[in-house]
Amino acid sequence: MEPQRVGKSYAREAACYDRRWQSYWGSFYDYYEGALVTQLISSRVPENARILDIPVGTARLLSKVREGLPKLRCVGADLTPEMLRVASEKLPQDTCSFVSADARTIPFASNTFDFVLSIRFFHLIPAARHMELVEEMIRVVKPGGYLLIEFNNPLYGLFLGAAFGLRRRLLHGTKGPVALWPQQVRSLTGPHWRIVEQLGVYWPGQGRLFRIAPRLATALGRLGHLWPLRYLTLHTLVCFQKTGSSETIAG
Ligand SMILES: C[S@@+](CC[C@H](N)C(=O)[O-])C[C@H]1O[C@@H](n2cnc3c(N)ncnc32)[C@H](O)[C@@H]1O
Repeated sequence: MEPQRVGKSYAREAACYDRRWQSYWGSFYDYYEGALVTQLISSRVPENARILDIPVGTARLLSKVREGLPKLRCVGADLTPEMLRVASEKLPQDTCSFVSADARTIPFASNTFDFVLSIRFFHLIPAARHMELVEEMIRVVKPGGYLLIEFNNPLYGLFLGAAFGLRRRLLHGTKGPVALWPQQVRSLTGPHWRIVEQLGVYWPGQGRLFRIAPRLATALGRLGHLWPLRYLTLHTLVCFQKTGSSETIAG
C-alpha cells in the first residue's frame, strides 16, 4: 500500500482500532501475542534496554510490553498522526516517546536500539519491498541486538488462509494480506543479520478454546512454536539478530 493511502485508511481507523482487539477473537489474540512478545524481549535484552516499536499504531502491543517490563526505554514510531495520538494518550511521555516516521526511512542513527519490533505490518506491504524494510530496520539495531517481525502464514490452518483469500477475491475483488512462504522468510537474512528464532502464533479456534479450557489452549499455543507446525498458525514471529561490531557495520 502506498503511504498516502495507508495514512488515509489508518487516520479513519485510529478511533476504533482498539475495538478490534476487544472482540471475542481479538481479545485472546491480543493477550496471547502481548505475553509472547514480552517474554521474547525479556529473554534477549536487559530490563532497561532501548526498544523501538515500528509501526506502533495505537500502542496496543507496546503498552502491554511496557506493563510487563516497566524499565524498558521505549520509542513508538508510525506514519499516521491519528494513531500516534491514541498511543501517546495510552503511554505518558515520561515512559515512552512517539515520533512520526515512515518505516522506509527511520529518523534515527544507525545502531541505536537493542530491540526493534514490527508487528502486524509486513502483511500490508508487497513482498518485493520487504527486504528494503528489513534492511532499514536492521540499520537502527545495535550490533548484537534484535529485530522481531510478524509475517502472515500462507498455510494458516492448512487451507483456511487460501480459502479466505479466495473468498475475498471472489466476493470483493480484492487481494488478501501478503503472506510469506518459509523460503521467502529465510531470504530476508543478510550479511550482518541472521534468524535466531521463529514461533507460530494463533491456531484456528484457539481463542474459542481458551474460553472453555485455558490451559489446553495455552499448551496448544506452545505446539505452534515447533517446526513444522509453526507454518500452520496465522502468523510467524521471526527474530533476527544483527551480528558483528559497530566498527564493522557501516551505517
Ligand atoms: C495494523 S496496524 C499495526 C499497529 C501495531 N503494530 C499493532 O500491532 O497493533 C498498521 C500500522 O502501520 C502504519 N503504517 C503503515 N505504513 C507505514 C509506513 N510506511 N511507515 C510507518 N508506519 C506505517 C499505520 O499507520 C498503522 O498504524
